[in-house]
Amino acid sequence: MRYNSITEAIGNTPLVRLDPAVHGLRNIDLYAKLELLNPFGSVKDRAAWNMVRAGLPGARERGETIVELSSGNTAKALAVIAGLHGLTFKSVTNRMRVPEIKDLLLLLGAEIEELPGQTECLDPTDTEDPLTRFHQELTRPGATHFHTDQYFNALNTEAHAAGTGPEIVADLDGRAPDWFVACVGTAGSSTGVARVLREYDPAVRVVGLVAQKSDFVPGIRNVDEVHEVGLFDPATYDTIEPVSSDEAIDGMLTLVRRCGILAGPTGGAAYFGALRHLRPLDAELTERRTAVFIVCDRVESYLGYVRQRRPELLGLPPVKNSVATLTDSEIRAATVIDTADAQKWIAVQRPLVIDLRSPFAYAALHIAGSVNIVDELFDELLRGGLPFSKRQPVLLACPVGEKSALYAALLTRMGHPDVRSLAGGIIAWRDAGAPLVRD
Ligand SMILES: Cc1ncc(COP(=O)(O)O)c(C=O)c1O
Repeated sequence: MRYNSITEAIGNTPLVRLDPAVHGLRNIDLYAKLELLNPFGSVKDRAAWNMVRAGLPGARERGETIVELSSGNTAKALAVIAGLHGLTFKSVTNRMRVPEIKDLLLLLGAEIEELPGQTECLDPTDTEDPLTRFHQELTRPGATHFHTDQYFNALNTEAHAAGTGPEIVADLDGRAPDWFVACVGTAGSSTGVARVLREYDPAVRVVGLVAQKSDFVPGIRNVDEVHEVGLFDPATYDTIEPVSSDEAIDGMLTLVRRCGILAGPTGGAAYFGALRHLRPLDAELTERRTAVFIVCDRVESYLGYVRQRRPELLGLPPVKNSVATLTDSEIRAATVIDTADAQKWIAVQRPLVIDLRSPFAYAALHIAGSVNIVDELFDELLRGGLPFSKRQPVLLACPVGEKSALYAALLTRMGHPDVRSLAGGIIAWRDAGAPLVRD
């Protein structure tokens, strides 16, 4: 294989059949589409290249900087492509959560601008979100940036409708699989592939996977955020199912240990989600069927992610006092308090109010007298045991009341007698017209 440019090596990734002795499906051939073998390491190489290729000459003439709202694979691919064409790249994000990727972006020469924001990805409906304001600024006529706009750019979806989807069909001898399973980030890959597969066979079942509520699987959205993406159309999916970070790591472990596929957590999530969906159907089948899932990227960037969640896999002591170990009944038993009751409780009992949001969100507006301990830091603090006296009542607040409920359940398990979670979080507090202060 001889190429004139590394970008010619994007796409045409292998479709590999997994050993039934490993996955256990008797009537379904399960295939992995190895997007991790793209030259810059992920499924996003296709979208990044397709979004910029036509605009590169003009961008170079005008000396524009390529800009994208991404803290992960899209940024990585764009940084490489920008360097390849003598351009600069700037990644704008509200939360760089995977340190290895941040380091890699810096190594690639990218500029990183970390902005305050309420969600991991852009929420176009929230005009107060700084990321939204930034997005509006970039798309203003006369802006000197080349904004690739992955959450809204049809060229993102097109990259997969022109490449990933047809490649799967070609490798299955001109047929669509019976099931297609993919994690949903911008929704570009799942939407583009699903569109092509349905042209070949309208009966193909499309399973979209998202991260479980209040959980984090890098690169994909969670159940609450998925509807906020411009490219997302619920009609693309026959079902949208959540996968936890633990399940993603379990799937990843099987792929790396038993299948020879060095997948990252979303590849693991897709494998786990595919098997969970297919196992009950497999038992009923009388003829052979085919399923394909996407392996988006590689494991190496996520060792820190694994170390934080499953340190025992890296020979370290297991995590103590983790929300990941809470049972459903422990979570349900957490004490939740609404804004009106919380205001009364604060006035009478003076609980320690801990705001688990980002420092930016806290600085913008918070409950008077509250202290800000961002959730990741709070998580670390709790590993060492209760960080405050049992005599001190505690009110936990987060954006929408989900994370705080988990930590309330954990503190209760750790023996704290009076910890409560603010129902609906700071958003419900604000919507109820309760007072907030600004630094
Ligand atoms: C690791 C990883 N997996 C999956 C996805 C989802 O792909 P898409 O944006 O096409 O929905 C992404 C997107 O950023 C990703 O970075």
